[in-house]
Amino acid sequence: MCPAMSLGLLIVQVQLAKLLHSFTWKLPKGENPQDMDMGEVFGITTRKAIPLHAIAIARLPQNLYLAPQFT
Ligand code: HEM
Repeated sequence: MCPAMSLGLLIVQVQLAKLLHSFTWKLPKGENPQDMDMGEVFGITTRKAIPLHAIAIARLPQNLYLAPQFT
């Protein structure tokens, strides 16, 4: 099995938290949460069978979305 499973789970949780904190999420017009297909496909990782289509709306000051510059 993956020797870094705990680290991997932490990385996934931090990245998800960053996405939830940084954006307001909406479904495209005409799509309802109750109609979403939450089916999964099993592989090396488990992912949604039908990819999520969502609209991300920035909710923080613009400069916080810039990639860090290492000079
Ligand atoms: C969400 C993140 C991750 C997923 C889904 C994942 C998944 C996996 C899977 C499926 C394997 C193969 C297991 C097997 O052969 O039975 C594996 C192996 C491995 N993973 Fe990860 N991994 C993740 C993160 C990481 C991270 C962050 C590291 C290192 C810092 C890492 C290092 C390794 C190594 C070295 C192996 C090979 C182990 C061996 O065959 O001796 N993985 N991982």
